[in-house]
Amino acid sequence: MMKAIVLSGGFATRLRPISYALPKLLFPVAGKPMIYWTLDLLQESGVDQVVLAVNYLADSLRAVVGQKYKGIRINYSLEDEPLGTGGPIKLAARMLKPKETFIAMNGDIITDIDLNKMIRNHKRSKAVVTDALHEVRDPSRFGVVKLDPAGRIQRFVEKPTLREAPSRLVNAGIYLIEPTMLNMIPSGRKVSLEREIFPILAKRGRLFGFPFKGQWFDIGNLADYRKANFALLRGHAPKRDLQRRGTRFKQPVFLGEQTKTETAATVGPNALVGRNCVIRRGAHVVDSILFDRVTIGERSIVSGAIIASSVLVGKNVRIEPGTIISPNVKISDGIRIGKDAIIHPYKEITANVRPRANVM
Ligand code: GDD
Ligand code: MG
Repeated sequence: MMKAIVLSGGFATRLRPISYALPKLLFPVAGKPMIYWTLDLLQESGVDQVVLAVNYLADSLRAVVGQKYKGIRINYSLEDEPLGTGGPIKLAARMLKPKETFIAMNGDIITDIDLNKMIRNHKRSKAVVTDALHEVRDPSRFGVVKLDPAGRIQRFVEKPTLREAPSRLVNAGIYLIEPTMLNMIPSGRKVSLEREIFPILAKRGRLFGFPFKGQWFDIGNLADYRKANFALLRGHAPKRDLQRRGTRFKQPVFLGEQTKTETAATVGPNALVGRNCVIRRGAHVVDSILFDRVTIGERSIVSGAIIASSVLVGKNVRIEPGTIISPNVKISDGIRIGKDAIIHPYKEITANVRPRANVM
């Protein structure tokens, strides 16, 4: 059986303001919180123990995920201060006590990588670390590698400019690690795997790459978040439109448990609605992501929005594309929210909001 460490900390600044109160790994993605995509992959690959390396908002993550998931034992390694990507692995390893190859991965990616194939490759090589690699159009937001024909990473450059990037093969944020690598990480301070450890390993010829095709989403900002949701929705939703209890569903649509839709409401295309939501008579939700406990009032139109949990939208409201609404917001009847507006948590909106406004 395998063990894994999932990097689950950081401040998710690019997912604000929703991430102020909700850890990134609990953002719903196509019907389940992001962390469960990772845990499902690990479980299906034969992992039986996972340590979540946490800091910011650790309690809410622990409250949701708990100590056990589909037979995986889950432990939490809590940092007092953010330790980057290397420090948390060193710290979590005290709990995991790995004696053989273990998995470490970024918690903010969703992928269908074949981990067992990656493990077989790793064992065949003399790698201290094998790094899963994925090809992207713009590598500048990622760690970028130069791979030799034998699968060795000759160079690893974190977030190079487009011109400096040695290729378009990027670090997918999934690693197989030999316990000896832990000795390379200094204790008690912030350490970047990508900037401090991998370049050295590459120089020593002990960093290998595992290029893979298939699904890979990195969820860094709200645009990525939206993209991953709609792509996964297209992959999993039924193809046919349907009419149920007077609601028109235009696929692809996902509806969470206990969610109610009323007569003459239209849901979709491209609508992800969480649990315990209500879409009232004549309302229309399209190209949007609604978290849990969201109510959309009669005849309101929600288009191209992300609406976090426990938001109450009144009647005849119009929410335009690009809008981000944080948890616990209340919007009065008849309000119009302009394009790309951002609304912070716990706001009560009683007057129209202009396009691109940031309501704090
Ligand atoms: N515990 C803990 N503590 N976790 C952290 C910390 C920390 O201080 N900082 C970041 N993390 C977690 C994040 O939650 C995320 O899951 C992972 O570590 C990577 O951090 P990001 O901040 O999301 O990095 P990135 O997306 O800019 O770049 C990384 O991921 C890319 C692929 O998605 C790098 O690994 C790149 O090389 C890589 O290409
Ligand atoms: Mg990231």
